[in-house]
Amino acid sequence: MKKTLNIGLIGYGFMGRTHSNAYRKVSNFFDVPYKPVLKTVCGLDEAQARAFADQWGYESYCTDWRQVIADDTIDVVDICVPNNMHAEIAIAAAQAGKAICCEKPLALNVAEAERMVAAVEKAGVANLVSFNYRRVPAVTLAKQLIDEGRLGRIFHYRANFLQDWTISKDVPQGGMATWRLDAKAAGSGVTGDLLAHCIDTAMWHNGAITSVSAMTETFIKERKNAETGKVEPVGIDDACTFMCRFDNGSLGNFESTRYARGHKALYTFEINGENASIAWDLHDLHRLSYFDHADDSIVRGWRNVHVTDGDMPYMGKWWVPGLQIGYEHSFVHQVADFLEDMAQGKPTSPTFREALATQRVCEAVLTSAKSKSWQTIKQP
Ligand SMILES: NC(=O)c1ccc[n+]([C@@H]2O[C@H](COP(=O)([O-])OP(=O)(O)OC[C@H]3O[C@@H](n4cnc5c(N)ncnc54)[C@H](O)[C@@H]3O)[C@@H](O)[C@H]2O)c1
Repeated sequence: MKKTLNIGLIGYGFMGRTHSNAYRKVSNFFDVPYKPVLKTVCGLDEAQARAFADQWGYESYCTDWRQVIADDTIDVVDICVPNNMHAEIAIAAAQAGKAICCEKPLALNVAEAERMVAAVEKAGVANLVSFNYRRVPAVTLAKQLIDEGRLGRIFHYRANFLQDWTISKDVPQGGMATWRLDAKAAGSGVTGDLLAHCIDTAMWHNGAITSVSAMTETFIKERKNAETGKVEPVGIDDACTFMCRFDNGSLGNFESTRYARGHKALYTFEINGENASIAWDLHDLHRLSYFDHADDSIVRGWRNVHVTDGDMPYMGKWWVPGLQIGYEHSFVHQVADFLEDMAQGKPTSPTFREALATQRVCEAVLTSAKSKSWQTIKQP
């Protein structure tokens, strides 16, 4: 019998579902060293927490996250609540000796993120930040191709994350459904929410970002508060574009907005190297576009690689070659890696410390936009 690992999930919304699904599926497909047990789910509303526990098979539920931390039987605290609660919960969980999986962005700002890193490192607990796109097999394959040196010297990295759900001035801010528009709960707008993903993946693929120059815009300046009904100034960035330099000498270009009519979640990246280029699109997440200049010129062109073969990242654990997987599987892979590393006493990437580096870039982007100046990022 495998050792069990009791999970305490805080937050039963969108991410609460993806993480619960991952804990339930992981042992069916991966030979993981622990069997996750869905012990407790915590959320704001008691009836919803109970319904979630029933639906997903949690043994118990509660509405006070401190109960999860105080429960000696809980091994892993999984944080799936709005960004302004990450720091307090993660620090308490670390002090209680729990392993922690925390949703992104790590924190509201660098100062909070530094305290979180100090807490997990002092306690010596396993820690992981859920930048799940790294574990989409095609995105992981891109990392493998870069690390094998196939691209040669890299010149350009560009990424977009585009949505369109806040174009209407009638979308409120604040409250449980629209906390992402409230700077106090989210920390920032698209920079922390969407670009944080692009930055995490980019630095994983292409190394540290050393300087940034950004512009942001808040297209709708006032919105009704969903809880009080009062019309208040909007404090988040609705759109953000930045250019940057990477430590390896390459140039980066990033854009994110919630005002790109027609786009629901278009995350794309393209990397141009001396010998080859790579492109990826979340809408076709199981495909990797690859151009190799070494190909015979009369058949040279962009290849569309269907990332489903057993020798491609994670795919040997799923069905048979040719059959693809989807979005939710990136979270299953994340849990599989977390459990495997935990058993071996190894950190799982991205750790809190690695996510702090992303937080530093996000903060520099926002400072740059505000001050209309280039910002240098020193990663200590
Ligand atoms: N990795 C990704 O791609 C991804 C995608 C979406 C969201 N996220 C991140 O996940 C986190 C949660 O986002 P979401 O979309 O799941 O949000 P959501 O609004 O769907 O769910 C938030 C949950 O937090 C709970 N909550 C709020 N305040 C609480 C409190 N005081 N005590 C206990 N529970 C409380 C609510 O009950 C709700 O269940 C955020 O940090 C977000 O940035 C990551």
